[in-house]
Amino acid sequence: MALIEFRNVRKVFGPKVVYEDLNLDVHAGESLTIIGGSGMGKSVMLKMLVGLLRADGGTVRFDGQEIHQKTEHEFTPIRRRIGMLFQGAALFDSMSIHDNVAYGLREHFQFSEGEIRDRVADALESVGLPGTERQWPAELSGGQRKRAGLARALAIRPEVLLYDEPTTGLDPVYTERINQLITSTRERYRVTSIVVTHDMESAFQVSDRIAMIHKGFVIWTGTVAETRASEDRRVRDFIEGVAPETDDAATLLRYGG
Ligand SMILES: Nc1ncnc2c1ncn2[C@@H]1O[C@H](COP(=O)(O)OP(=O)(O)O)[C@@H](O)[C@H]1O
Ligand SMILES: [Mg+2]
Repeated sequence: MALIEFRNVRKVFGPKVVYEDLNLDVHAGESLTIIGGSGMGKSVMLKMLVGLLRADGGTVRFDGQEIHQKTEHEFTPIRRRIGMLFQGAALFDSMSIHDNVAYGLREHFQFSEGEIRDRVADALESVGLPGTERQWPAELSGGQRKRAGLARALAIRPEVLLYDEPTTGLDPVYTERINQLITSTRERYRVTSIVVTHDMESAFQVSDRIAMIHKGFVIWTGTVAETRASEDRRVRDFIEGVAPETDDAATLLRYGG
């Protein structure tokens, strides 16, 4: 049994059909990268896993439990097990780095302030930002903010980590740094990882398998080697960088966003 299963999942926003029939398995311990053009539903998929969005049909299972119909309250035990680095790694500007990283710990658990301090320090240490607790988001660079966002996801010591475009907007040095962090985090904590990225170099570097989403379906899954050798036109176009990174008109035309 897979740790995460999407079965015949349908997701719509009014007239807009994001997923017609989404089927995907994620196995415990693996690192799966999701690729696909802008607006194809990559973020929506991750949000269905953490209960920020609900499927309109089909089944989403996590560790054998059906989670697609859980109430907000019933979702709490799931959120303790899944950490998410949001697209843009939004930090709360009005909170110190300590409070940002502590956020999930306070929201979903009942730890003492001492335990929270220890976990925050640990998480910041593991992303290479030790001792930054008293700083403010505005004082950090873009790359440091991403790492602080990752520390926030790590602080809950999750079994599953979801990374939504962790390297978008970063220069090559920070991109490399984040890729290494994804790999080292996985080795150190043995987490199952799902990474959404536009960056094929990152995808090839951090994943065991790659899945591509296109117009409401998973149209491809394969290992890194299989994906590199894929003859599927849509996969090839993506790998060869035809797929742009923005919501511009050309992207929307080409990918039907
Ligand atoms: N909360 C929402 N309300 C309405 N439409 C949404 C919402 N979230 C996402 N969408 C739409 O669903 C589609 C997929 O979005 P998203 O998953 O963010 O794409 P991406 O693959 O770029 O991450 C887009 O057309 C987007 O506009
Ligand atoms: Mg997205």
